[in-house]
This record gives sequence, C-alpha cells and structure tokens, in this order.
Amino acid sequence: MALILSLPSFYSDEKFETYTLRSIDTDAPAPSDISFRGLKCLQRGTRSRSHIDVYRGYLTLSADKEPLDVVCKIGFGKIAEILVSEEASLYNGKLRHLQGKYIPVCHGYFVGDTSEGPAGCLLLAYCGEPVKDMLTRVQPAFKTALVHALVAIHDAGVEHRDLCRRNILDCHGRPMIIDFEDSIEHACERQKPIEIGAPAPSFVSEIGCVELFQFFIDIDVWTPAYIEYIGDFQPIKLAFDAHALAKTAPSHWSPEEALQEAYRVIIQHVRKYYPEQYEDWKAGLSQLLMCLFGI
Ligand SMILES: Nc1ncnc2c1ncn2[C@@H]1O[C@H](COP(=O)(O)OP(=O)(O)O)[C@@H](O)[C@H]1O
Ligand SMILES: [Mg+2]
Repeated sequence: MALILSLPSFYSDEKFETYTLRSIDTDAPAPSDISFRGLKCLQRGTRSRSHIDVYRGYLTLSADKEPLDVVCKIGFGKIAEILVSEEASLYNGKLRHLQGKYIPVCHGYFVGDTSEGPAGCLLLAYCGEPVKDMLTRVQPAFKTALVHALVAIHDAGVEHRDLCRRNILDCHGRPMIIDFEDSIEHACERQKPIEIGAPAPSFVSEIGCVELFQFFIDIDVWTPAYIEYIGDFQPIKLAFDAHALAKTAPSHWSPEEALQEAYRVIIQHVRKYYPEQYEDWKAGLSQLLMCLFGI
C-alpha cells in the first residue's frame, strides 16, 4: 500500500510538496493507495539533528469514504526517521490495545525517499488540542482519567519520559497521551494502586516507580504527605492523632496549648484537603470541639 503525501511547502502555504511513501505494515489489507493532504503545520522541527514536522490534514482511504481528520508526524533524514519509526513501533506494539482509549488510533507507518533524504511518517487520528489549564487544576474526572492512562501505559511496559501539557490532548474532555518519541521500555515496579485524593507517599520507594511518583506529585493527585504544625512539617499519620501531634510541639508550649493547636491545624487541614468529608468528619468531632473550642 502506498501513501501519497501532499504537504504545504516550507516557503508558501499555497504550494504543496508531494511524496510517495510505502507502508511497512505487513498485515496491511489488499494494496490500495491512500492519500494525506496536510492543511496546517502544527509543529515544524529544526532542520538540524532531528527534523520532524507535524501536520493536521485529511486522510482519504478510498473514494467512497469520508476523509479522516488525521495528524501526520514525519521525520526527514535517517535520525528523524528512526525516532518516528520507534514511536510507531510503540503505537503498533506494546501500546496497541490503548489506541482510541488513552492514545490516538494509529493509521499506519510509512517510509520512503524524499528530496530531504529518507523519511518516516506516522499517521494518527486527530485527538484535540493540548490541555490549556495547569494540570493541577484540570477537572477531577479528567485528572482521574489521566491517572488511569498513565498507569495503563506503564502496565503496558512503557515509560513516557516527556510528560507535559503539550503532550496531553483534551479529546472531548478525555485525555489522550501523545509523543512517545523519548519513551523507553519499562518494567514498572509500581507496588500498589494509585489512590487519588489519599495522602501522598513520602518516598518514591512507597510507589516503586519514579515517573509515576513524580508526575502524580506534580499534578496534585494526592493530598499532602505532611501536616504543618507550629512552623514544622510532621508526617501525615500524626493528623489522625491530635495527642501524638501535640507531643511534637516545642517544649515551651504547655500540653493544653499544644493539644489545642494540634486540633486547630488538623481541622484546617481536613477542611482544605478533604472538603467533601469535612462536614461528616466534623460532626463526629463535635463533642470534643465543643469542649475545646466552643465551636
Ligand atoms: N494525534 C494528535 N492529535 C492532535 N494534535 C496532535 C496529535 N499529535 C500531535 N499533535 C500536535 O502536534 C504537536 C507536536 O506533536 P508531538 O508528537 O508532540 O511532536 P514533538 O515530538 O515534536 O513534540 C503536539 O504538541 C500537538 O499539539
Ligand atoms: Mg511533543
């Protein structure tokens, strides 16, 4: 199967450069030509080390079918071709079962010779724009899906290695992860399920995977692993025991003052980080609060 590519010229959007590439997918159905017409350049690579361009356009599979809204990631030159081909191998290998769910559907990988040397072209379904909001502030449902997506990618044996907003698309409110150019094979040692909204692990060893630990800390998947108490940070387990927290107070604090302060910061912590549980939790504490604070 051949792919006829028409890409807007570097020098003028009015002009198109045309290339003919061939599929390297041996499972491809009966040979028939397909064509991609690039309408917009989404990213232009530097023409030095790895020249990779990304275009959005239409993929026509046959005359009787509607063209598909597709992105073409094309690497020119040997190094760029290898990078795109490795990314294509992930789409069609370890990550194949995640296509359409957490990563774009892949319409194939094509290679050929061009005036700029050997080229490799990956065709992916267009899946929306990169997220605009800070990842700490995206909708809870989006963040939850992002956690599931990353865990699924790691479970599939891949470490992404370039997790940033421009590589996370907002596909009708669902995250789609792209850009596996820097990714590597990875035997994930994640040791337990990721509990969204639970206190963060204090150390990477509690999760067992550096990329997941760091990314989930960065996007605030968890609540703090520490509670602030009298100018210091104490492990979050002390937030469950006001008396234990009070014992960490400096010696010039009286036990009564230390306990009162411990309850105050615990209440503040729960109100800020567990707003949904706050009212029920406070009702349970009401007797105690009446005695201590007259609330
Ligand atoms: N499947 C896609 N759907 C929508 N936009 C895409 C898609 N793939 C890439 N893009 C857009 O093109 C940009 C560059 O693609 P990417 O694969 O991240 O290349 P690079 O490795 O150069 O960063 C992305 O940040 C995104 O805006
Ligand atoms: Mg990118």
